[in-house]
Amino acid sequence: MKVGIPKEIINNESRVGMTPAGVFELVRNNHTVYVQTGAGDGSGFSNSDYQQVGAIVLDTIGHVYAMSDMIVKVKEPIKEEYALVQRGQVVFTYFHFASSEVLTEAMIDRKAICIAYETVEDEDGTLPLLTPMSEVAGRMAIQQGAKYLEKPEKGRGVLLGGVPGVAPGRVLVLGAGVVGIQAAKMAAGLGAHVTILDVNMKRLRYVNDVMPSHVVTEFSNEFNIRKHIKDHDLIVGGILLKGAKAPKIITRDMLKDMRPGTVIVDVAVDQGGCVETTRPTTHENPVYIIDDVVHYCVTNMPGAVPYTSTMALTNVTLPYVLKLANLGWEKACQEDASLLKGLNILKGKVIRKEILEAFKWQAIND
Ligand SMILES: NC(=O)c1ccc[n+]([C@@H]2O[C@H](COP(=O)([O-])OP(=O)(O)OC[C@H]3O[C@@H](n4cnc5c(N)ncnc54)[C@H](O)[C@@H]3O)[C@@H](O)[C@H]2O)c1
Repeated sequence: MKVGIPKEIINNESRVGMTPAGVFELVRNNHTVYVQTGAGDGSGFSNSDYQQVGAIVLDTIGHVYAMSDMIVKVKEPIKEEYALVQRGQVVFTYFHFASSEVLTEAMIDRKAICIAYETVEDEDGTLPLLTPMSEVAGRMAIQQGAKYLEKPEKGRGVLLGGVPGVAPGRVLVLGAGVVGIQAAKMAAGLGAHVTILDVNMKRLRYVNDVMPSHVVTEFSNEFNIRKHIKDHDLIVGGILLKGAKAPKIITRDMLKDMRPGTVIVDVAVDQGGCVETTRPTTHENPVYIIDDVVHYCVTNMPGAVPYTSTMALTNVTLPYVLKLANLGWEKACQEDASLLKGLNILKGKVIRKEILEAFKWQAIND
């Protein structure tokens, strides 16, 4: 199969769909890999890194799309890319179709085979191609939170680890899922006191079993939240209700109970956020202040660490890429139920009912 790796052209995206390690595996399996010149620059991979493992570097994005049977990338195609997608071409990337009718219509029109990372689903309901980005964001939440707690950044001026003779900072983590556990682990590693809340007792039991004793679990309810926001320095929002908007468990009126300079990192911002005062921000302008509380609400946190994020993403996508290339998309999806769930649009037909529901469309694939 001919596999194409275009450079991401969406604003501020430096990740790339495949590392030289992935190219090495594909070439070893007798596939041809076209990489657009400069595609890996933002993630630390040069053209020659790719060429050394057998990739053919092409000058333009148009050539990569025109010559490939399958495109492997990171973000959904943007307007400039729609016309490049070929009829019958496999496009394997994050799509998030339900949030863009324009993109969905464009991919229907192009009659491509769209397999979305975010809907590839394991038997136990977990989303293996989303997990690594939550891991990155959870860990980053503490790194960013620690920075914005500094006085020049308008934070309380607290060092999370404390020093001998001075108590460490206090971190409140909302949600003990992937983001929450990674955040708790980082904060605990710095020596901070951590309180982690969830409504799922299984998650709390797990955290209680694996974390050190300065990570304390509590059930998530309004009483406990109101109690803890008063004396925690950093609050991390890592709540998810699958397929729904995040519940606003920190309301506007609670901000006045927090100490000035408290920092909120609402990682769940991409699902609307779990704080009433959350609004999406970017890496250029990541924070804003309401009632003396610093809010960090960047929607694509992993984009700031493209080297780590590219490696983390491609580690989990590569086995699926290899399967698609070796077997062809039809056989690969027949043999792998997780991959089959990733199939969203097939040659002009919408496969997943969630997309039809999102736009109140009739089943056009009848
Ligand atoms: N901003 C970013 O760059 C970025 C990156 C990755 C993930 N995210 C987002 O982070 C959020 C969390 O992702 P995840 O992978 O950790 O999800 P997850 O499903 O692993 O964990 C979510 C947890 O929230 C818990 N929860 C639900 N309701 C709760 C409540 N009322 N109180 C406390 N806990 C509650 C669930 O029980 C679950 O344990 C998602 O919205 C995800 O999209 C954002």
